[in-house]
Amino acid sequence: MPDILIRKIPKELKNWIDDQSHSARTSTNAFLIDLLDNARKGNKGQIELFDSVPATERPKPASGTQVPFTFCDLFAGIGGIRLGLEAVGGSCVFSCEYDKFAQRTYRAWFGELPHGDIRDLDLATMPDHDVLAAGFPCQPFSIAGVSKKNSLGRKHGFLDQTQGTLFFHLAKIIETKRPPVILLENVKNLMSHDKGKTWQVIQDTLDKLDYEIHFQVINAADFVPQHRKRVFIVGFDRKLFKGKSGFEFTPPPVGPQPKFKDILGDAPDPKYTLTDKLWNYLQKYAERHRKKGNGFGFGMTDLEGVSRTLSARYYKDGSEVLIPNGPNKNPRRLTPREAARLMGFPDHLEIVVSDTQAYKQFGNAVVPPVAESVGRQIAQVFATKITKRNGCLLKKSGNKGLAETR
Ligand SMILES: C[S@@+](CC[C@H](N)C(=O)[O-])C[C@H]1O[C@@H](n2cnc3c(N)ncnc32)[C@H](O)[C@@H]1O
Repeated sequence: MPDILIRKIPKELKNWIDDQSHSARTSTNAFLIDLLDNARKGNKGQIELFDSVPATERPKPASGTQVPFTFCDLFAGIGGIRLGLEAVGGSCVFSCEYDKFAQRTYRAWFGELPHGDIRDLDLATMPDHDVLAAGFPCQPFSIAGVSKKNSLGRKHGFLDQTQGTLFFHLAKIIETKRPPVILLENVKNLMSHDKGKTWQVIQDTLDKLDYEIHFQVINAADFVPQHRKRVFIVGFDRKLFKGKSGFEFTPPPVGPQPKFKDILGDAPDPKYTLTDKLWNYLQKYAERHRKKGNGFGFGMTDLEGVSRTLSARYYKDGSEVLIPNGPNKNPRRLTPREAARLMGFPDHLEIVVSDTQAYKQFGNAVVPPVAESVGRQIAQVFATKITKRNGCLLKKSGNKGLAETR
């Protein structure tokens, strides 16, 4: 039997081959020869193995009405919102994300390199679109971000000159492009930051831009086994919808909540187990805070329950989502693939960056099934309010756009 030399294949694929040959109790070589032979027989000589995703792993088409619409993905990260909107009939016409590692993932997953810094964006190059989606940076408003900035004596919220003011860039884009619908996402703390003043400014700004605003805090725990509360803001151009969009957020899905154990992989690499030094440190840290009467500390996850919120700093010590490893053993952290699943990203999306970058990217992302559920309600408004035109609902300059189509 010939020997097969495996080189230069993605790590995910290599792991899959190892897992499969292991569970088939055969050597990697014999497993691959079997696989190639089956592929040859099944495809009449056309070997099609790894460039296509097995049908069972492909994203499922959205249930219910599918209305084609276009959208822009701003502060795109790795495209959590994009996956959700695509699942309900949206096609992305423009993306913007300045982190080069997130851009790498985005290109691998969606085949396009997002535009870089939003502050350099020439709005004339930005295509018209039906929905403007933006999960704008949350650090200036998140509890962790605010306490860190406070401890460093730095300004937070809108006073953070580099990140806080990005909302106003967004407002400028909305004012110029006048998308019929906007979909914004941020941490729940945005609503209480600076005694509610930040939230008021955001509402007032969108109101002045003449958008009918709906918002809801959604806990991703209804979709994935993770406690993750985020505020979703959906706005409809009043000039087009006359303040009567009829939009409603969906109630949470019924049925049992997903369980943390369902996202765990088999036999993770021992490198994900915490070292004695780190585990001792985390236990002492938690003990110190317990004595002071506050709840800071690690999160040992109940396998039958849901985890704490995965944060972008998970790569540092993994402390917020630890996994028990059995008696007398140090706990472990999530593997990047498990982090992806905890966020609702499907397994067929290959992780193309280092573990550190992957944790940062997933910790920053929007949970795609949550974006999908909000996107479905937006599509519902399109379906009921607007007659489909040329396969697209785009408001074009030079005609009456959406207003004319109603
Ligand atoms: C909360 S994350 C976005 C999550 C993403 N929308 C999703 O659906 O998963 C915010 C993103 O904004 C990006 N960002 C921050 N400042 C930016 C800027 N000035 N221009 C472009 N992207 C920026 C960050 O790199 C980060 O990936």
